Amino acid sequence: MQQVRPAVNADLPALIKAFGERYYFEDRLARPPLHGVLFVLPGDDAAALGAAFVRMVPAEEWELRERLRGVPILSRLQVRKDVRRQGVASAIMKAAEEYVLSKGRMRIALGVTSNNAAARRLYAAREYVEWDFGQVNAMVVDYLDDGRKAFSTERCHIMVKALGAAVPARV
Ligand SMILES: CC(C)(COP(=O)(O)OP(=O)(O)OC[C@H]1O[C@@H](n2cnc3c(N)ncnc32)[C@H](O)[C@@H]1OP(=O)(O)O)[C@@H](O)C(=O)NCCC(=O)NCCS
Repeated sequence: MQQVRPAVNADLPALIKAFGERYYFEDRLARPPLHGVLFVLPGDDAAALGAAFVRMVPAEEWELRERLRGVPILSRLQVRKDVRRQGVASAIMKAAEEYVLSKGRMRIALGVTSNNAAARRLYAAREYVEWDFGQVNAMVVDYLDDGRKAFSTERCHIMVKALGAAVPARV
């Protein structure tokens, strides 16, 4: 199996083959690394296995900007249907968490809807914990096939993970 890595322009056909969403991936690939990084797990059959974006700049939502200042946000985690339950999402999340830690950020966060049981189990297994401030109306941007963007919101639980070695309580 290949390794999870930051996506490059040459990955665009494989991402589109797996997930469609040409304009979304073009947008993410065009962003400077300071803004965020699109992670991909390439496949051996010219279609990506999975992808996710880590946003390094302040969130769109004021709640996240205020209460999770400086905390990168993982978004649009997706795995090809035919390769689910094989650890692809876990591998992408691990790479994203290591990247965030390598940039000196000690936490990572994400949003998940109530009805997404698969993702909620995945995040719980990876030690993401829901914050204390309730759900948030998170911004959703759909990149339409004609290049336009459609904006909406969805209620999300905000999950946060502390990264790095645990500090011993007492030495
Ligand atoms: C959620 C999603 C990303 C999981 O990807 P995946 O590669 O199948 O996940 P993994 O194989 O790494 O799963 C790791 C663990 O998460 C949990 N999990 C993942 N999918 C699950 C499912 N369908 N039902 C129950 N638990 C699930 C399990 O604990 C699993 O460990 P196990 O297989 O040993 O039991 C994938 O189903 C997906 O792309 N869904 C559509 C897009 C989406 O909802 N993205 C998340 C947005 S917040």
